Parts: sequence; structure tokens; C-alpha cells
Amino acid sequence: MIKIENVSFAYKNKIALDNVNININEGESIAIIGPNGSGKSTFLKLLNGIIFSNKGKYIFDDTEINEETLKDTKYLKLFHKRLGFVFQNSDTQLFCSTVFEEVSFGLLQMELSEDEVDKRVGDCLSLLNIEKLKDEHPYNLSAGEKKRVALASVLAMNPEVIILDEPMNGIDPKGKRFLNELLAALNKSGKTIICATHDFEYVEGIFNRAIAFSEDHKIARDDKYENIINDKDFLRSYNII
Ligand SMILES: Nc1ncnc2c1ncn2[C@@H]1O[C@H](COP(=O)(O)OP(=O)(O)O)[C@@H](O)[C@H]1O
Ligand SMILES: [Mg+2]
Repeated sequence: MIKIENVSFAYKNKIALDNVNININEGESIAIIGPNGSGKSTFLKLLNGIIFSNKGKYIFDDTEINEETLKDTKYLKLFHKRLGFVFQNSDTQLFCSTVFEEVSFGLLQMELSEDEVDKRVGDCLSLLNIEKLKDEHPYNLSAGEKKRVALASVLAMNPEVIILDEPMNGIDPKGKRFLNELLAALNKSGKTIICATHDFEYVEGIFNRAIAFSEDHKIARDDKYENIINDKDFLRSYNII
């Protein structure tokens, strides 16, 4: 489904991804791990078409994703419908004046009836347990509530691939357990999950694979999640724990 071939990316002259190769199949659940600054967020932004590689190729279901392909607004819409991105900082994602508007925003871009939009928004608010917040201004919510709203707005689009950048950051333990169960359930229902994380105590049971980036922005290891997480020598030597 996703092919990353010899991809490198630099911000001006600061390298952030160095010759990365990854294949991701539909239905996988992948943890992206690595020390701060290793390139996790950059990799997720690239997957989501926010930035484009300087070298190498990103292929999504037979289409090469680059500035040219995403200039086609019809394809761009389809691409964003299939891939949903939950940003690390919810404030960069939430811009509507109520939670209800926030979750319906993407749906209104699709040609759905008002009833269909209301139904989908209602389902997502209830899935995330935030029905009571529907008339609140997202700005006034707690970090955990904001994260739920951001997730609801992504899930409303029913994407096949859900990409999350450190979703457990700044969330209380109860919120983390809720997210854990939700992500595991979404993967079970067939969604592909790609998630940058370092909250290892709270992500148990979500992932079947981990990709570890190193401080020099290369892939240090791509293996079963359990194999990597139980290899403390590896995690220590790459400054991941
Ligand atoms: N907007 C930016 N401009 C310049 N350098 C950046 C920018 N974003 C990230 N970087 C640099 O790119 C590298 C990878 O960053 P990032 O992908 O954010 O790592 P991680 O998410 O693993 O902490 C780091 O060296 C970081 O300082
Ligand atoms: Mg990051």
C-alpha cells in the first residue's frame, strides 16, 4: 500500500531523513520510534504529503506522491480521505469555533447530505466519548479532550490509514488507556495505524511492527514490535530509552 524508496529529506541543508526504505501493507499497526530529532515527525509529514522528499520516491497504491500529483485537487481530496493525520500539537489541527463544526468540517467538503453528516459526527463524538463537548470551543478544552476532538475529526472521514504523531503526549493516564484501546480496536477493524511514540508503557497491545530511527536519521531497525521493545540493549544503545 505504501512504498518509501531511497527517500531523503533535508530542511534547507539540515538532513532529517537519510535514504529511508519502508514498505507498509494494509492492516499493519506500526510504531515509529527513535530519539528526539531522529526524523519521526518528518517521516509522518512526508507520508501525509505535507512535505516532499528531495531524493527517492513515495508510492501510495501505485501513485507516486509528489508536488505534481497532489496539485490535482481531485486526487488530493481522495488522498486526504484515505489517509488521516493526527498532529502532535492539537492546536495546529483545531480551527473551528465548536467541536461539532470541527468534526463535521471534512465531511462537509464531501458531497454528503446533512443527515449523513449529522449521523457520522454523532457516531464519532460518541466513539470518542465527547458528545457533551459538542458546543464547546475547542480552544477551551484540556489537552486530552483536544486530542479526542482531533481524532474524531479524522475518524469522521473514515480513512484507511491513520497516522498519529505522539498522540499520548501530555495526556493523563486514563486518556492514554482510552487511546490505547481505541487504536487497538481500529486496527482490529482493518485500519492501518502508523504512530510515532515513546510512551512504551501505554502502547502495549497496539502494534505488530516497529521502525526505529537513529540519531543519524536512518532506519536502525525494522522488526516485530515485541522483538524491538524487549531488546533493551538495542534501545539503550540507540538512545531510545
Ligand atoms: N521545520 C524545521 N526546520 C528545520 N529543521 C527542522 C524542522 N523540523 C525538524 N527539523 C530538524 O529535523 C530533524 C528531525 O526532526 P523531527 O522529524 O522533528 O524528529 P523527531 O520527530 O524524531 O523528534 C531534527 O534535527 C530537527 O531539528
Ligand atoms: Mg516529533
